[in-house]
Amino acid sequence: MIEQKLEKLKEECLNCQKCPLCKTRTNIVFSGGIPNHNLMLIGEAPGYWEDQKGEPFVGKAGQLLDKIFASVGLSRHKDVYICNTLKCRPPNNRDPLPEEKKACRAFLDAQIEILKPKIILLCGRVAVNSMLNTNIGITKIRGKWFNGPNNSKMMPIFHPSYLLRNDSREKGSPKWLMWQDIQEIKKYYNQIINE
Ligand code: URA
Repeated sequence: MIEQKLEKLKEECLNCQKCPLCKTRTNIVFSGGIPNHNLMLIGEAPGYWEDQKGEPFVGKAGQLLDKIFASVGLSRHKDVYICNTLKCRPPNNRDPLPEEKKACRAFLDAQIEILKPKIILLCGRVAVNSMLNTNIGITKIRGKWFNGPNNSKMMPIFHPSYLLRNDSREKGSPKWLMWQDIQEIKKYYNQIINE
């Protein structure tokens, strides 16, 4: 039932011409990972490789994201549903424009409504801005839980591209903070899957 609903939504998305990105996309990037009620990650928008392959987080940032999940025994192949605020790539990976986010929002809302995930990870500034309607910097807001749709909990986390630009693993560095956050996420994840 859930798979059918998502498939129908994806069909709609594949035909979408609500914003000019439909003219420059190679592929729509609707989702990746596994549809499930526990864990969803929302990223920003497809980049070059995602646009080429039609899958989210398949470039360098995606490889790091997989490692972050693997560090706590989670995997996109069995535990996480992955999507983005935009389903089409903005040219040259520029930030999504407000009108593009607005045009694409119904797809994201429908994905959340169909899956009703208990945990939603807001990966990076753009996802945080979309879901929490705030411009507070990611460094200030990451690692905190917020109430989300359908009684979910949402946590802002650093975008893996940001971590790729910040190599240090020292205490207090972005990578170190990400490690704290993913452990906190896993702790809550264990709690909800045992409920
Ligand atoms: N960055 C994102 O935010 N999403 C992707 O799918 C790839 C890179």
